Amino acid sequence: MAEEIISIEHVYYRYPGQDPYVLKDITFSIQKGEWLAIVGHNGSGKSTLAKMLNGLHYPEKGNVTVNQLSLSEETVWEVRKRIGMVFQNPDNQFVGTTVQDDVAFGLENNGVPQEEMVRRVRDALERVNMLSFLDQEPHHLSGGQKQRVAIAGVIAIRPMVIILDEATSMLDPKGRKEVLETIRELKEKLGLTVISITHDLEEASRADRMIVLNNGEVFKEGRPNEIFRMEEELVKLGLDIPFTIKMSKKLTEQGFEFPNMYLTEEELVDALWTLHLNK
Ligand SMILES: Nc1ncnc2c1ncn2[C@@H]1O[C@H](COP(=O)(O)OP(=O)(O)OP(=O)(O)O)[C@@H](O)[C@H]1O
Ligand SMILES: [Mg+2]
Repeated sequence: MAEEIISIEHVYYRYPGQDPYVLKDITFSIQKGEWLAIVGHNGSGKSTLAKMLNGLHYPEKGNVTVNQLSLSEETVWEVRKRIGMVFQNPDNQFVGTTVQDDVAFGLENNGVPQEEMVRRVRDALERVNMLSFLDQEPHHLSGGQKQRVAIAGVIAIRPMVIILDEATSMLDPKGRKEVLETIRELKEKLGLTVISITHDLEEASRADRMIVLNNGEVFKEGRPNEIFRMEEELVKLGLDIPFTIKMSKKLTEQGFEFPNMYLTEEELVDALWTLHLNK
């Protein structure tokens, strides 16, 4: 049975000294092992929401529950152990002078004993396929490799949830692919719950579920193919829709009849071949 890992109930938040709420009556929940993508225009409140899940902000009204712990100043340290965050800029995330020091940093802070620490650092680096870079200095790595090391630092702490706040946005397509594949594997092998905040539609379309934020409110929630079906509404909110959907639409206007909606280029190409071969 599905198990709820995060629940957000009627949450309101505004920055200190500011009048308008940047999060308004936000309510949704996340199941264990789920991959949830959060999309929304600039300033819609995505990062504020992510920081709230990590206890960097507290709701002014409403409740955030993480694995049955209600977020408050008393529970924040426990909550933070359960949720790891990876941010946008790979260069701002390094604290160690070598890859292994960097991954060890969070463990040291959590008081993990030396032997256990060495074991966990190696295990985490192996899982992101960076074990052979153990003694390297982080600045020699590519963007994708740096983000994978940042992910290793997070999973070494054994969180239940990993939040990626635009974690692939500064990467080239290769780095982006590396990072997303790493996350997918970790999700499957460790049963990790993933929240990815992203402007990348391809990334969002691979999630199990999507939430669209607009001006601090939940505008819509659904599976990627349900969300992307609302093409015009998304465009009105300043969001884009995946290339494959735009392409299929044009082709449909030219008389192609697609039995389905395709969110990846591979699927669309396969569908075109099938239509071609059946002609
Ligand atoms: N430290 C802060 N102090 C005051 N206002 C802030 C602060 N950080 C963000 N805001 C405001 O809160 C609102 C939501 O910002 P937030 O960064 O959560 O949006 P976002 O959806 O992550 O945007 P982006 O796509 O640009 O990352 C915006 O209006 C922003 O200007
Ligand atoms: Mg943001």
